[in-house]
Amino acid sequence: MKVTVVGAGAVGASCAEYIAIKDFASEVVILDIKEGFAEGKAMDLMQTASLNGFDTKVVGSTNDYSKTAGSDVCVITSGIPRKPGMTREELIGINAGIVKTVSAGLIEHSPNTIIIVVSNPMDTMTYLVHKTTNLPKNRIIGMGGALDSARFKYRLAEALECPISDVNGMVIGGHSDKGMVPLTGKAIRNGIPVSEFLSPERLEQVSADTKVGGATLTGLLGTSAWYAPGAAVSELVKAIALDSKKMFPCSSLLEGEFGLNDLCIGVPVILGKNGIEKIVEIDLSDAEKAKMIESAEGVKKTNGLLEL
Ligand code: LAC
Repeated sequence: MKVTVVGAGAVGASCAEYIAIKDFASEVVILDIKEGFAEGKAMDLMQTASLNGFDTKVVGSTNDYSKTAGSDVCVITSGIPRKPGMTREELIGINAGIVKTVSAGLIEHSPNTIIIVVSNPMDTMTYLVHKTTNLPKNRIIGMGGALDSARFKYRLAEALECPISDVNGMVIGGHSDKGMVPLTGKAIRNGIPVSEFLSPERLEQVSADTKVGGATLTGLLGTSAWYAPGAAVSELVKAIALDSKKMFPCSSLLEGEFGLNDLCIGVPVILGKNGIEKIVEIDLSDAEKAKMIESAEGVKKTNGLLEL
């Protein structure tokens, strides 16, 4: 499998690193507009290959899309990250132009690619790729829910004072501080609902901490996070590469599923060699449904800012 990662900043480099280190891809191309930057990151990563034991070839490209030709999966991380105090939605003006140009360049050289969108505001950028390319809907995936769910599991384990591997849970909805819907009622510790161990107030705190997971890190780091976003992307790409049919919450174009239409928002999907193999329409409680509707309204409001 050949994978392209556009953007050699912290998130893009982290995506490339985790994909390479997991050793399922034959080649990873990193592309960036900054002269020599992607080449430098690629060379540095290649010099970890003998130390970390991977055979994936990592190649850099300064805005030369011909090097990305024949990519099975392309990951778009390019654009500006948020600074402390900013919302993801405030990035729309600059990032929409970048994502449009980048997706056109990628598809010109890899017409059969699957695109994973990471640039923010992610749900709206995913919708933009749907609106401005002719890729089928199964081949456009927004990465947010996998990251938000990883942050949810971190907060659940913290509250439960247990290892993260003991817990499982999912965050659906928009990838925004207000729009995330952590499914606390469905989260489990080794098959047991976490509500058996945590009070409603503590669970509400877990949910609140999860929703501002990215903002908390932006406050600490001065820019947005990269390890968990990179790791989350690598797991989506791996599920596609191995055709594993694993379930992740991903931003996906909805056409009636969950009662929602004409937007991309995080819902459970099955990932395999065709990208989104299936949207899984789980049963939501009335409270979860209400949160999902509110989240969708927020995403649609941001979509309304796009000049399509
Ligand atoms: C975050 C960015 C990648 O949540 O949206 O860290």
